[in-house]
Amino acid sequence: MSTRPRVSARISAISESATLAVDAKAKAMKAAGRPVIGFGAGEPDFPTPGYIIEAAVQAAREPRFHKYTPAGGLPELKQAIADKTRRDSGYAVEASQVLVTNGGKQAVYEAFATLLDPGDEVLVVAPYWTTYPEAIKLAGGVQVDVVTDESTGYLASVEQLEAARTERTKVLLFVSPSNPTGAVYSREQTEAIGRWAAEHGLWVVTDEIYEHLVYGGAEFTSIATAVPELGDRVVILNGVAKTYAMTGWRVGWLIGPSDVVKAATNLQSHATSNVANVSQMAALAAVSGDLSAVAEMRAAFDRRRQTMVRMLNEIPGVFCPEPKGAFYAYPSVKELIGKELRGRRPQSSGELAELILEEAEVAVVPGEAFGTPGYFRLSYALGDDDLVEGVSRVAKLLSEAR
Ligand SMILES: Cc1ncc(COP(=O)(O)O)c(C=O)c1O
Repeated sequence: MSTRPRVSARISAISESATLAVDAKAKAMKAAGRPVIGFGAGEPDFPTPGYIIEAAVQAAREPRFHKYTPAGGLPELKQAIADKTRRDSGYAVEASQVLVTNGGKQAVYEAFATLLDPGDEVLVVAPYWTTYPEAIKLAGGVQVDVVTDESTGYLASVEQLEAARTERTKVLLFVSPSNPTGAVYSREQTEAIGRWAAEHGLWVVTDEIYEHLVYGGAEFTSIATAVPELGDRVVILNGVAKTYAMTGWRVGWLIGPSDVVKAATNLQSHATSNVANVSQMAALAAVSGDLSAVAEMRAAFDRRRQTMVRMLNEIPGVFCPEPKGAFYAYPSVKELIGKELRGRRPQSSGELAELILEEAEVAVVPGEAFGTPGYFRLSYALGDDDLVEGVSRVAKLLSEAR
């Protein structure tokens, strides 16, 4: 009998997605009849707009879309993504610099797989989205955390980045607006970080998937446009999921210099080939249409954001800086760790989240999932009434902490 492990070391090292695990537990409790309110979801609660669905229905009827198409994406979609990037970010790219992927997630994997050799370091601002560490690890890269907290609204400074840079640093991962914190870098901050990266010859991988979800006075700035000095060492990741309420359609993209895009396309040609044509045609309708659907969602998210942040900050022991983008609040619950609550003493935000799920029937994602224990992530992409009810239940429970 072979004593070799059944599952490879590389794949065994991948953790279960903590956000999906919380969601699964909440759904199981719901299925068992308990009135759980979930703040775990990372997706808009709106349906995909009708004109996008119509485009998909038409595409499904066309025999040419029943066949394989180019692995890197339909030419008309690649052109539309290039045009959209020029429209929204002022960044001029050719269709040949676009690779259409199975959601933004595949773009994340392919970007790191294409750029990293074993031992190459990637600077990642924590709290970070759960998928990045796994994609970096699988590519043989080494993640170097740049930890931020509520005192700066989870924004990293050039000084912090410089302190983490070594001779092995190849890539800076720049995410604004951020999942999980909702932090948005100003134009000045973006320029300063981009210039620092350019000065040190770093690549910048920038995830722009929440570009259209910014609130109040905040503005989205594409680092690629703001810092021309970065030249051709920028890779942009994006997709239709969050802007057009299309998480289930699985269309994202990667934009970069031709050599990187060509290499990533070769990888995709052996992994998944073309993204489902029906989804690509839906995405074409989305990116070449106007932004009225996202404007409507943004107004609803903004209202819910303000309600949630106000309610969270009224809870003793909870502090939530104002998120400026995406659809998440990221409050600190550090003061509540170790306090007595319903006969228990949670020793981590993970344990506190479990207690809240059991006692208040509310699901939140603990900060452990995002590299910073002591926090919760709450999505405000859910109905106003559920939001108020859910946060009220948490407030009532946590007010008993002693
Ligand atoms: C920051 C960020 N990037 C990328 C994605 C990928 O989205 P999708 O694969 O659904 O397009 C997500 C989804 O949660 C995200 O939060």
